[in-house]
Amino acid sequence: MKPFKIRDIKIDPPLILSPMAGVTDFTFRRLIKKRGGVGMTVSEFISVEGMTRNSPQSKRMMRFLDAERPFAIQIFGSNPDRMAMAAEMAEEQGADVLDVNCGCPAPKVVKKGGGSGLLTDLPLLERILKDIKKSISIPLTLKLRSGFTNSDINCVEVSKMAEQCGVEHIALHGRTREQRYSGLANWDLVKEIKNAVTVPVSGNGDVTNVESAVEKFERTGCDGILVGRGAMQNPWLFRQINDALKGLKPYEPTLADKQEVLLEFFEYLSEDMHEKAALGKMKQLAGQFTKGLRGGAKFRQKLFHSQSADEILENIGVYFDTLSNNGTYGDNRVETEVEILDSCEAVSA
Ligand SMILES: Cc1cc2nc3c(=O)[nH]c(=O)nc-3n(C[C@H](O)[C@H](O)[C@H](O)COP(=O)(O)O)c2cc1C
Repeated sequence: MKPFKIRDIKIDPPLILSPMAGVTDFTFRRLIKKRGGVGMTVSEFISVEGMTRNSPQSKRMMRFLDAERPFAIQIFGSNPDRMAMAAEMAEEQGADVLDVNCGCPAPKVVKKGGGSGLLTDLPLLERILKDIKKSISIPLTLKLRSGFTNSDINCVEVSKMAEQCGVEHIALHGRTREQRYSGLANWDLVKEIKNAVTVPVSGNGDVTNVESAVEKFERTGCDGILVGRGAMQNPWLFRQINDALKGLKPYEPTLADKQEVLLEFFEYLSEDMHEKAALGKMKQLAGQFTKGLRGGAKFRQKLFHSQSADEILENIGVYFDTLSNNGTYGDNRVETEVEILDSCEAVSA
């Protein structure tokens, strides 16, 4: 449970913001990195087909701030030439690490052989990794699922092969493609990979609090942990885990911190995109972030129904003013998981 290195790049603390398409863009990463405790950030996955055809969207997705370093660009695809070319472009863009996506379960990605589809064609994956290695000088890393189907779990075999190809860090999300996001991630496989290769290995899946992170480090001996969805619910999770790793009491965000994070996110979004897109992104984060807040259900409804920047800012102000004056907002309760899911679905329906 100490910092580790990907070649000469120190991952300190050993905690990585897991890539999430549509979520971990430039603004979200900036927000989370600033809360502390993040040892590395990763771009959303970027299509090599778009990148190598100079799509403006791919270019946008490669942007990062110096303050984010170390920063990895993650690519997906299945054509070895395009994968190698895109990897070179990512290096030119200034990324510290090039990560290959070997886990995306989306049918439109898998149908073309990319993402977790690569787990079904190891000779192709081997060729891709070797070709990329020849085209870049920054470290090459791999993020994979445990297997394609539940009856064909091949992540240990894939990891050994990847190491032979020169991959310098392996991150396992311990679910198969067949599982999508159901069930729980299998962290025993993280331990198996750790015992099978010499490069650093990180685990991923279902870390939503300090205790689960510490337990997983101890149980598997993994070098690092990637946290995805947990960061949307709790932007301080990395800082809290890092506090625990250092033997400190985990930081407890104040009401003012919680208000600040929402306002700051909206500010970053407004700097980066037009108002309608910023509102949409804000509602996406708010849907997660309001979980566990007092009167969160009503606050979420207010945010979801806000039609302009002024309205959203006003609603945030009223909510936090009410709570800080010990007033009652909605029914003032913290909802159960089931209620949260129901209200998110009702709002998005
Ligand atoms: C909305 C969403 C988008 C995702 N996009 C990516 C992606 O672009 N690349 C990737 O490797 N994994 C992606 N993932 C998977 C996450 O990185 C992570 O492996 C998974 O959510 C399990 O970790 P968690 O339980 O900490 O969220 C995505 C997950 C979600 C929920």
